[in-house]
Amino acid sequence: MTNLACIANTYPDKASALSRQLGLSICKTSEIEQWLDWVSDKKDSELKLALCSKTQGPVFVDFLAGKKAHRRQFGGGKGQPLVRAMGQLENALPTIIDATAGMGGDSYVLASLGFKVTMIERSPIVASLLEDALNRAQAHKSELPQELKESIEKLSLINADSARYLLDFQPEIDVIYMDPMYPEKKKKAAAKKEMQALQHLVGPDLDSEKLLEAALKTARYRVVVKRPKGADPVVCRHNNIQPTAQISSPNTRYDIYVIKALTASGQL
Ligand SMILES: C[S@@+](CC[C@H](N)C(=O)[O-])C[C@H]1O[C@@H](n2cnc3c(N)ncnc32)[C@H](O)[C@@H]1O
Repeated sequence: MTNLACIANTYPDKASALSRQLGLSICKTSEIEQWLDWVSDKKDSELKLALCSKTQGPVFVDFLAGKKAHRRQFGGGKGQPLVRAMGQLENALPTIIDATAGMGGDSYVLASLGFKVTMIERSPIVASLLEDALNRAQAHKSELPQELKESIEKLSLINADSARYLLDFQPEIDVIYMDPMYPEKKKKAAAKKEMQALQHLVGPDLDSEKLLEAALKTARYRVVVKRPKGADPVVCRHNNIQPTAQISSPNTRYDIYVIKALTASGQL
């Protein structure tokens, strides 16, 4: 993990506005491990805010192209485990808070299938990548196919610590979804570029228990926690609440805490 991220001086006006917003200094990229800069590529000249480093290519969020668009088209639709884990209400799709938004991949899949998703991300740097992608998508809204436009409209973003936010504001929400960063495993195959950059920037999330407790106090319908296959569930130490259901896929497991079942059994 590094706290050395800062902003490159490639676009001085943009850099000084962002440095005021994020409280990060502007510096020479030769002196640091990770930095924010604006990049474009041959296919698309539009500038995107990206997390950059010496060891790998720039990482940015793009809701309209690349991996996210591919996952939206070919990810398995409503049958994919992530979506099944959200459950179904009688008359409407559940509303969702993605309490660990990261690069917005899971949020976007859910939004593209019609769920209204509030993304909460505590790292101001990661949140700024999401905000930049949302702003770019909004700017292109009039040119987008209806389906894509609707997906973007279903997404909103809050830069905050979710545990604090849930307890302070007690939002009315059906499902709270969590995908905390797991501690890096030495033997594991290298994580994807995006996840490597995130791991380096924010490190493992060691306070997931606190977030789960706040989520269980807030969600009306269920809390869903993504875990690696074989990992223990996140533990609520004071009452040891266990998941009421699980959905597994080859590398991942979704632990589901159904509020009605937990309340009926006296655990909540
Ligand atoms: C593994 S990543 C999530 C990846 C995301 N599901 C995706 O599809 O891109 C975990 C993210 O959750 C954020 N996070 C962890 N705990 C949080 C909390 N209590 N409040 C807000 N964000 C949190 C971390 O900063 C990190 O960016």
